[in-house]
Amino acid sequence: MANVFTNIGDWVTERAPNMMPAYRKHMTEYYAPKNFNLWYYFGSLALLVLVNQIVTGIFLTMNFNPSAAGAFASVEYIMRDVEWGWLIRYMHSTGASLFFVVVFLHMFRGMMYGSYKKPRELVWLLGMLIFLALMAEAFMGYVLPWGNMSFWGAKVIISLFGTIPYIGGTLVEWIMGDFLPADATLNRFFALHVIALPLVLLLLVVLHIAALHEVGSNNPDGVEIKKGPKGNRWDALKPADGIPFHPYYTVKDLVGVGFFLLIAAFIIFFAPTFGGWFLEHDNFIPANNLVTPSHIKPVWYFTPFYAIVRMIPSFLGSAVWGVLAMFGAIAVLFLLPWFDRGQVKSIRYRGTGYKVALGLFVLSFFMLGAVGAGITAEVIPEWFGNVDVTFWENLFGRTMTLIYFGFFAFLWAYTHFGWEKTKPVPERVTTHD
Ligand code: HEM
Repeated sequence: MANVFTNIGDWVTERAPNMMPAYRKHMTEYYAPKNFNLWYYFGSLALLVLVNQIVTGIFLTMNFNPSAAGAFASVEYIMRDVEWGWLIRYMHSTGASLFFVVVFLHMFRGMMYGSYKKPRELVWLLGMLIFLALMAEAFMGYVLPWGNMSFWGAKVIISLFGTIPYIGGTLVEWIMGDFLPADATLNRFFALHVIALPLVLLLLVVLHIAALHEVGSNNPDGVEIKKGPKGNRWDALKPADGIPFHPYYTVKDLVGVGFFLLIAAFIIFFAPTFGGWFLEHDNFIPANNLVTPSHIKPVWYFTPFYAIVRMIPSFLGSAVWGVLAMFGAIAVLFLLPWFDRGQVKSIRYRGTGYKVALGLFVLSFFMLGAVGAGITAEVIPEWFGNVDVTFWENLFGRTMTLIYFGFFAFLWAYTHFGWEKTKPVPERVTTHD
């Protein structure tokens, strides 16, 4: 068998001499630091989910009807009549939520270990573009089943653009192609969701990994292995603290894949709606432009950003500030490498101020999520009885918004004015074997 592969390899190399070197460059001769931990699973898991979304999406498209009159019924048809249709759909809907779980953890890893810092700013920026494309992709996918939450979610989110002075109204009509979310909206969202954005996502992911492989991976110690000693045998030109990606990390990543598939299968088979978090109850009701759902809220992964829009009050007769703050919450993440001027990358060797600030940032993100999902509106009267819920919710949400943005301001001052007291960074990566 091995012989057959070698022969095919030789045959290809003879005709396309640069193809096998590309495989070697990115797999067998890509040296990754030998101290990767659990946090390094999420990049390959994001790739796995991307493939899952594309493959299951192709099969869903075969039976989906992208029209306001037929979309909801075609999804019910997929669920009940198409062979294995229920499985394909639940793999896709669960995949969407798990995509965000994996990507949030992947981003948090980058923040903990300073992977966004020089020389990996480009990797981070491309990652942030992926994040934007992913949010657009998820939003448009959510509109497609044409449930009542799809309809009202589309209406609320597209109407946000209406707050832009002068052009807002026209812009909203242009995006929807109508005065309400309607056939035209569904058709264009379908085209963007099934082909345009997946192509953009795929291209960005290729660039993201290519950019990473130019500079090499960071690691939990934040040590640049390329600057350290070289190997002393056949790997004399390679970093001594690195190991070939293939087979070492392909095999390690398979362990992560195994665990991940177990969790995904459990959700898909036993809790596909995840209590209304992954598929909302109001979306099992067909779209109705005369009946608004009792609580219009986005899917969980958008709730922190949605909370920020809601928490910023109108000012000078305009509601655009909330929308600006929401986009600002994403823009500051893009600029993270320039807010953080600290020389030490990994949280292991950074100052206490940084650790506390990052902890508070994560807390504010969760709490904003709770505000956006309507949890605080339920919990406040339950815990504190007959109080002014709006007042306390606003106070809480605004404090969390301040902490969210405060993290970036603090990080700038902390590293710019030299307040950070770091620990000595080891010369070589550390392992605990
Ligand atoms: C579809 C989504 C994404 C895919 C498939 C993806 C894929 C990958 C892969 C395979 C790696 C190398 C393995 C690893 O370090 O875990 C990686 C590294 C990295 N990614 Fe992503 N990524 C995605 C989204 C993002 C996002 C949204 C960000 C942040 C804005 C990001 C930032 C990074 C950084 C900074 C690294 C280098 C980490 C290091 O060397 O420590 N990625 N990505």
